[in-house]
Amino acid sequence: MASSPEAEIWERYAAKYTPRRAVNAAGATTWLNWTQYPDHGPDETVLGDLRGKRVLELGSGAGANLAHLATLGAVCTGIDIASNRADLAHRTWGHLGSLGFVTADALDYLTGACTTFDVVYSIFGAVWFTDPEVLFPLVRKKMCDGGVFAFSQPPAAPQEGKAGQVIRQRHLPVHEWTEQLAAAGFGEVVAETIEAPELGKPGTVLVHARATR
Ligand SMILES: C[S@@+](CC[C@H](N)C(=O)[O-])C[C@H]1O[C@@H](n2cnc3c(N)ncnc32)[C@H](O)[C@@H]1O
Repeated sequence: MASSPEAEIWERYAAKYTPRRAVNAAGATTWLNWTQYPDHGPDETVLGDLRGKRVLELGSGAGANLAHLATLGAVCTGIDIASNRADLAHRTWGHLGSLGFVTADALDYLTGACTTFDVVYSIFGAVWFTDPEVLFPLVRKKMCDGGVFAFSQPPAAPQEGKAGQVIRQRHLPVHEWTEQLAAAGFGEVVAETIEAPELGKPGTVLVHARATR
């Protein structure tokens, strides 16, 4: 199957990938990081209890965050539009079991999936690059009532919306994230900006919500 122009862009992006450190500052070999800075920001507790939960990551990249959730007893699926991501993620983390990686666009995957999930999340992933008006109702349809949906991304950058930008980044003011999520059937929305570890650097927007109806 021919890949889309978006997939090709992400495959080229993936080719420049630098692997994550083998061990973090706390001495852990797997961990979840919501921010663009190492050893900074909240951990997986944002997602609630994970043991036995069905978890989906949208835009899972090389799979390191999802691998951590598998070590905590979650049953994990990661999807990514770039085919070279799923291959690498399988090779790196497949030995952990309880996790699988699929090559798919987030909207296509959610439209076709027969499974429902307790937790859906995205870290600088597909949520950042997909129209929330289309994506959020599809995410909700594939989630169990009471489940957690969470995502992180950078705040809006000055170059956003520049003519010629091939992949559009999606940034909303906090009240609009809340409105879009509420319209799609989510409640208990918390949208916050995590300050950067250094003055003058961009923070991280972290949004989480519960599937309420
Ligand atoms: C900036 S990287 C972040 C990867 C990973 N979440 C991490 O934190 O290392 C964005 C990822 O989202 C994937 N992606 C972008 N748009 C997507 C879409 N529409 N559906 C699925 N994956 C997508 C890209 O291929 C890429 O791997």
